[in-house]
Amino acid sequence: MSKIILTGDRPTGRLHVGHYVGSLRRRVELQNSGEYEKIFIMIADAQALTDNADNPEKIRQNIIEVALDYLSCGLDPAKSTLFIQSQIQELAELSFYYMNLVTVSRLQRNPTVKSEIQQRNFETSIPVGFFTYPISQASDITAFKATTVPVGDDQLPMIEQCREIVRKFNAVYGETLVEPEALLPGNEACSRLPGTDGKAKMSKSLGNCIYLSDSADEVRNKIMSMFTDPNHLKITDPGSLEGNTVFTYLDAFCKPEHFERYLPEYADLDELKGHYQRGGLGDVKVKKFLNAIMQEELEPIRSRRKELEKQIPAIYEMLKKGCETARAEAAATMAEVKAAMRINYFDDAALIAEQARRYGNGTGTGEK
Ligand code: TRP
Repeated sequence: MSKIILTGDRPTGRLHVGHYVGSLRRRVELQNSGEYEKIFIMIADAQALTDNADNPEKIRQNIIEVALDYLSCGLDPAKSTLFIQSQIQELAELSFYYMNLVTVSRLQRNPTVKSEIQQRNFETSIPVGFFTYPISQASDITAFKATTVPVGDDQLPMIEQCREIVRKFNAVYGETLVEPEALLPGNEACSRLPGTDGKAKMSKSLGNCIYLSDSADEVRNKIMSMFTDPNHLKITDPGSLEGNTVFTYLDAFCKPEHFERYLPEYADLDELKGHYQRGGLGDVKVKKFLNAIMQEELEPIRSRRKELEKQIPAIYEMLKKGCETARAEAAATMAEVKAAMRINYFDDAALIAEQARRYGNGTGTGEK
């Protein structure tokens, strides 16, 4: 079976380094590996509206930001189809039918939905659209017959819910949909990169994100004021790695060759960590090392973005083409779904003939 990728992001702001190590960097590698027959990258505006219904302008403004971030990271429209969710009406249509295959209690048990309801103080008044977004996400994935969904591990419950819907659909209506698999980031730091303040969640309102589009100075300032070990007061004090944001970021960004280049007195990250834990290694030195690494990784992205920012109409045109390609794909799946569900009445000559026969049309009995 051919391998197909679908994944996406909600356009509620510019993308940050959490998106990057959690999924974006991997997507570009997968795109360039040549192993995938088709790759669909979706700007999930309809999903973003499920908890931003009163603020459509925010979503509208951020479509281009996300597209710029995608392209500057190396997603290439010649190899990947970049498109916008709301423009693919089949996704809404599929969701309507999948809703019949999911119970309210199953949605209530979805851990991602549960924690997002808490974060948004939705406990007493959950918008139905928000509550059912795992179903809509299953439509996103299955409309493209995706086999592989590269996501952070917070999205695992979504993929599991999608797999259940696929199994249920295929059991009831016959083998039609493809069961996808999640593709997770290499390590835990990449799966859950914390905010620069050490809080588990990066969020614009907390001001604890490093954006892909931040200037070199902004990145440096954010790194130099990062949360470390609050008990590591003097350089000679032993330091702790537990919850130490700088080391979590190193786990996500550091490669062996960075030591040769920027910190040759250490062989590798384990040696650096050992020294920090024993005492005698200051935070500033570690932060400067992290800064060197992150600047090296972010600089090419930043400079590509500067160039792309000069071509805004062309980027909208690229997205429009992407939507057309995506739509054709989703429409083909929709036709199969309708046939499987027996709601393809007008394409079904056998149905019409059968009903006609039942009523005696064309046999001489029903006609004068
Ligand atoms: N829920 C994802 C997020 O918040 C975005 C998304 C929407 C998605 N549809 C998807 C991811 C389908 C993977 C597959 O980042």
